[in-house]
Amino acid sequence: MTKPYVFITRKLPKEAIQPLMEVAEVHIWNEEDKAVPREVLLEEVKKADALLTMLSEKVDKELLDGAPKLKVIANLAVGFDNIDVDYANQMGIAVCNTPDVLTDTTADLTFALLLATARRVVEAAEYVKKGEWKSWSPLLLAGHDVHHKTIGIVGMGKIGEAVAKRATGFEMDILYHNRSRNVAAEERIGCSYAPFNEVIEKSDFIVCLTPLTEETKGLFNQESFKKMKKSAVFINVSRGPVVDEEALYQALVDGEIAAAGLDVFVKEPVEASHPLVTLPNVVALPHIGSSSTETRVAMMELCCKNIELVLTHKQPKTLVNKEWGLSVK
Ligand code: GLV
Ligand code: GLV
Repeated sequence: MTKPYVFITRKLPKEAIQPLMEVAEVHIWNEEDKAVPREVLLEEVKKADALLTMLSEKVDKELLDGAPKLKVIANLAVGFDNIDVDYANQMGIAVCNTPDVLTDTTADLTFALLLATARRVVEAAEYVKKGEWKSWSPLLLAGHDVHHKTIGIVGMGKIGEAVAKRATGFEMDILYHNRSRNVAAEERIGCSYAPFNEVIEKSDFIVCLTPLTEETKGLFNQESFKKMKKSAVFINVSRGPVVDEEALYQALVDGEIAAAGLDVFVKEPVEASHPLVTLPNVVALPHIGSSSTETRVAMMELCCKNIELVLTHKQPKTLVNKEWGLSVK
């Protein structure tokens, strides 16, 4: 019997994919550090039984229509807004993501970005490296306190809760907004649910962790930034399009809010000349929320495991489209 054909859209370490190579014919887009061109991907899906994708690939109707054998898409991310899940589901294709294994790592990065933005860590480190430090002075690079302030978490999934847990160590008051109330998290952490407007009005740190959906697109807009405190620090570690970037830029320039820490952008990679990136009160990172070596390897292994399970007619570990059945194809 011929082995199933698996296409992986980015070079991954051998150890992570070794088990999959034993059960499948694995092809990897092999150009170091370059995303797979769309035309290559469209060609590859014609023969693929499984795809291992990055969040930068658009898995849309066009792609799925050209994929007659495809049984599973394993996305190397917890987010799956790059995939037309409804359409994949209609076609009987399993869609898998990588939740849980990245929760603490992403919460760590979220808190690192919050602290860096509040205490101007990046600016201060650059200041020393550029030889600009000539004398100690009382208000040199003075930032904002984090401890005992109010943090408002928008999107209280597992990562939101892990961020809240870290905030308790800083003795912060914790507000959150989520589509549905997370009473279990309230009990575990001691955080309080509030309507979106109340969260953004009352918080010193507004942390966006909500997935990108039709409802959350442009959620942080001119009106929301106006409602925030002038001293507010805005942190986004979810997806760029949840924020109206022009409105954020204007809010930062006009002093409607104090600073922003951004791990994600509407268009990635973001250009160094992007207005937001040029602001001194913005800390910009290249979408590295889950990027520790341990976690990225765990994510790769989970993707490979999910593919292997589906290809051997078993239930994958972390399925997005829960209605996907085992009887299809
Ligand atoms: C990264 O952004 C992810 O969704 O895992
Ligand atoms: C998913 O978005 C999560 O917060 O775990």
